[in-house]
Amino acid sequence: MAYQSLKGFRDILPEESPRWRRLEETIRSLMRRGGYGEVRLPIVEATELFARGVGEGTDIVGKEMYSFLDRSDPPESITLRPELTAGAARAFVQHSMMQVQPVTKWFYIGPMFRYEHPQAGRYRQFHQFGLELYGSPHPEADAEVIVMGMELLHELGIENFRLRLNSIGTPEERIGYRAALLAYLHAHVGELSEDSVRRMDTNPLRVLDSKREEDIRATANAPHIMDALGDESRGHFERVQQLLAAAGVGYTLDHRLVRGLDYYTRTAFEFQGLDLGAQDALGGGGRYDGLIEQIGGRATPAIGFSFGMERLLIAMENAGKSAGPEPETDIYVVGLDDDSRRWAFTQTMELRRQGFAADCDVLRRSLKAQMREANRRGARLAVIVGGSELEARHAQVKDLAEGVQHGIAFDDLGGELRHMLERASSPQQGTADPAAPGPISAS
Ligand code: HAM
Repeated sequence: MAYQSLKGFRDILPEESPRWRRLEETIRSLMRRGGYGEVRLPIVEATELFARGVGEGTDIVGKEMYSFLDRSDPPESITLRPELTAGAARAFVQHSMMQVQPVTKWFYIGPMFRYEHPQAGRYRQFHQFGLELYGSPHPEADAEVIVMGMELLHELGIENFRLRLNSIGTPEERIGYRAALLAYLHAHVGELSEDSVRRMDTNPLRVLDSKREEDIRATANAPHIMDALGDESRGHFERVQQLLAAAGVGYTLDHRLVRGLDYYTRTAFEFQGLDLGAQDALGGGGRYDGLIEQIGGRATPAIGFSFGMERLLIAMENAGKSAGPEPETDIYVVGLDDDSRRWAFTQTMELRRQGFAADCDVLRRSLKAQMREANRRGARLAVIVGGSELEARHAQVKDLAEGVQHGIAFDDLGGELRHMLERASSPQQGTADPAAPGPISAS
């Protein structure tokens, strides 16, 4: 049987690439304007980093990691990154960024791996765009990061979403809250889903995040984390909200939003797509003031988010903002016999050197088949040469959109082609140049 890609792993073929490129270009432009530098980090890290960083009690570490023993002696456990906040924090510490500058702003784009049950919008290899801001404990940093997420969705034309916002306090504040919540959950254990009963003792906060009807009903009167916050956390959260309001950002306060990773402190948020079906988290993030110290660095406050790029593409598609197909080439060079094919080949290479998107036949096809190929590839111009054109050092150039054709001297070819392509893409495109020679049909 022919090989298939693994379950949950997708091929992205050239016809899909323009959409990815448009998404990446929008991200990079926004990141440049925001002063975020791109980091390109390893795909694999020590398993220990995620166990310590993301947390032993999380779904990610508990059941979703691609972990392997490598070939060293003794073997070392390594893991395909399920997310990049821990890896970026590792790089931040390793390169002593704290000593280089007071505030570091990084972004990344790349594949992540989680052994999850694949479904629409959920894959085992998926891509994230994320950003991390290190060095500031203040609400201004929270607001900046959240506004960057809003800006991205705005620039991508995605409007059908809401921003859910919560504060989950400090680890100290959560100790008391966890106990109160656990007591509540134990009193309602009979009403909870099997999944929630299982995760209740390891990660009771996650029960609040469950989307199952019975869990939502059972936790309707559960204690709110907001009531467990001290003055400092409350003040921080209020200031974040003031700054968001000042920036014109709408949000929904949601005490059920707890996020699935252990490193979060205080502000937590999620951009929830409203037309994405079950996998509706476009992106999410929060503050994680303890992570860097936890993985061995000097205590450094930080906040960030990640978006799922496949989900952004689905949301763009739903909003009718997907990039359309691009022409594969601008100029198709057609040779009719052995000598002219050689000319077509060398001329194609020369045109590419001059900056054109140019291509020619490699299947020794007939004129008709080559012209069909030129059209299929979306070429605007076909340069056609046979024995008589070689002799006269004149090519026939056909505008495939307009259907007009005229002869151009070999020596003028580059300049003329440039001129014709520019005219074709200018607003008056389509009007034939009255000074140009009349149509000659290719023979
Ligand atoms: P996360 O919520 O685990 O957070 O993932 C962020 C986003 O990645 C999700 O909202 C979703 O769009 C996408 N995503 C996650 N799993 C999958 C999957 N299996 N298939 C497709 N898309 C998926 C983080 O990863 C944190 N590192 C975010 C962060 C950065 N927090 C602070 N800084």
